Amino acid sequence: MLAIDGYTRTCGLIGNPVEHTLSPVIHNTLAELTGQKLCYVPFHVETGRLEDAVKGAYALNLLGMNVTVPYKSEVIPFLKDIDPLAQKIGAVNTLVRIKDGYKGYNTDMPGLYRAMCADGVRIEGEKVLILGAGGVARAVAVLLAEKGAAEILILNRTLDKAKQVAAEVNQLAGRALATAMANAEHTDLPEREKYLVIQATSVGMHPRDDEVVIEDEAFYERVHTGYDLIFNPAQTRFMKMVQAHGGRAYNGAKMLLYQGVIAYEYWTDTQITDAQAMKVFEIMQNR
Ligand code: ATR
Repeated sequence: MLAIDGYTRTCGLIGNPVEHTLSPVIHNTLAELTGQKLCYVPFHVETGRLEDAVKGAYALNLLGMNVTVPYKSEVIPFLKDIDPLAQKIGAVNTLVRIKDGYKGYNTDMPGLYRAMCADGVRIEGEKVLILGAGGVARAVAVLLAEKGAAEILILNRTLDKAKQVAAEVNQLAGRALATAMANAEHTDLPEREKYLVIQATSVGMHPRDDEVVIEDEAFYERVHTGYDLIFNPAQTRFMKMVQAHGGRAYNGAKMLLYQGVIAYEYWTDTQITDAQAMKVFEIMQNR
């Protein structure tokens, strides 16, 4: 970070908890690489204090904020404006200072998209299967619909939740693009078909490293590429199972990187180069 002086602008993260975040590493490194006078700090916001936090941030002239669990949806009523994609997803992770308040964006999904592009994983025209039907899975489904996936299958333990997400996506797409299935129904997948599978549940996240949503080895024969949104551990059991059956597998570290890079670009109205992003990625990996 450059020396802090009277011109340094502050950005930060609001959430609860925020203590384990990697975001300060991402943004303070970007500030250093670009030579911008910007400093990024985490702010632990107690339950019930979110509105005060957003108003207080604005009053303190903070340039921008990231928002994390559990406030990504809760923050929406306290915004001056919201980007249409964030509105569709129903979750905001980035606040950008505008006149009289903050505008909310979602950089998680564009971050995932940029990460997939960097990894050479294509969405357009692809048959994609999502594991999970929670908030993250729903956002992924919206992204896939926007980026022209040919078919979206949503597999979830609770079939009703998968049906609800599929219905919402079909409503947005204006056609029957998404189909819901219960996890156990993976055996009904057509034999000759191979899928891009996006693992959007918390199953397999540290410390439950040895868990996976679908145990059945036969399922992994249906996977040409596995994209796990988990980044800790770096090699999840899901990824190992995909690889064991000849598929390519990626974790969520680049998504984390690029959601930060895109937020930084919004705040500073600059473009981060691939070389700068990769430098940040290296530093993140060492943490
Ligand atoms: P988030 O907002 O992070 O997506 P969430 O809304 O709690 O979190 O969703 C978690 C997802 O992980 C859900 O799809 C959940 O399945 P259910 O809808 O059946 O609850 C899935 N999930 C969590 N633990 C699971 C487990 N042990 N096996 C299978 N799926 C699991």
